[in-house]
Amino acid sequence: MPNTLVRVAEVTAETPAVRSLRLVRDDGAPFEPYRAGAHIDVTGPTGVLRQYSLCSPPADASSLLIAVKREAGSRGGSEALHTLAAGDKLEIGEPRNLLSLAADADRHVLVAGGIGITPLLSMAYQLHDDRAGFELHYFARSRAEAAFADLLEHRAGFGDRVHLHFGVPRAEQPALLTGVATGLGPASHVYTCGPDGFMDQVTGVFAPVVGDSHVHVEHFTAAEIDTGADRPFTVELDTGEAYEIPAGRSILSVLTDNGIDVFKSCEEGICGSCVSGVLEGIPDHRDQCLSASDKAAGDQVALCVSRALTDKLVIELY
Ligand code: FES
Repeated sequence: MPNTLVRVAEVTAETPAVRSLRLVRDDGAPFEPYRAGAHIDVTGPTGVLRQYSLCSPPADASSLLIAVKREAGSRGGSEALHTLAAGDKLEIGEPRNLLSLAADADRHVLVAGGIGITPLLSMAYQLHDDRAGFELHYFARSRAEAAFADLLEHRAGFGDRVHLHFGVPRAEQPALLTGVATGLGPASHVYTCGPDGFMDQVTGVFAPVVGDSHVHVEHFTAAEIDTGADRPFTVELDTGEAYEIPAGRSILSVLTDNGIDVFKSCEEGICGSCVSGVLEGIPDHRDQCLSASDKAAGDQVALCVSRALTDKLVIELY
């Protein structure tokens, strides 16, 4: 997919640790339409590539907004983006969705933890434009640390659909969420983004009410993977070439070493770039980008982290 050259039009300190960057195309053209909940690859000044959710209104094609939290111990991606000023240029990829609004929901509940507000903000704009029934719950340690709190409360026009929860201890969050779940049913959909432990709690409360497949989660850090019991297997492409994937190597790295061009980005199983089709065999899913129902269907695999439960996987590169 081609990258787009963009210019930073505006930098805003949303909190002491979060800066938002408003991006415009360097050629002055509007952006292509995208779906709420999308994220983009951003290649920063040091060449580090990271994914950021789009948090501007999807209906506004004139600019894109991303919010970058400076992470202690980051590998340089967020630090470098915090050095940018208006006028600086960046390359971004095409918007992609791992989180999307369900078309047939009777109610939508958005539950954000900290900087996980970003994809949910664009979804709230879309739901508001669509006049859909939704509510947004935003948990943060304090108001000072909650990016976009004023925007959500006063400027976005969401009114009483916004519920801000500051300083609620993790142990008390399930009781609060259980109250939110009252009145939802199997036609409702819940979307959550935040730290993994937070999203586990959200899933634990809402999945029994709306069903596993109606709780949509967006991860932004990779899970720890136990590779101790890995064994070799064969990957065959739909063109007939076959490759041995040893323990300790990914399908992606073996294919790349053999000169096969596979689209990739995070290489941690969270962005969905490398997902390919499965024509034969059973994947051993280790990614966090495919949904539970995608994984159960077994016809897709994330090549950067997932392996095989069968001796052979026949795959089709997208
Ligand atoms: S490269 Fe991101 S999921 Fe594989």
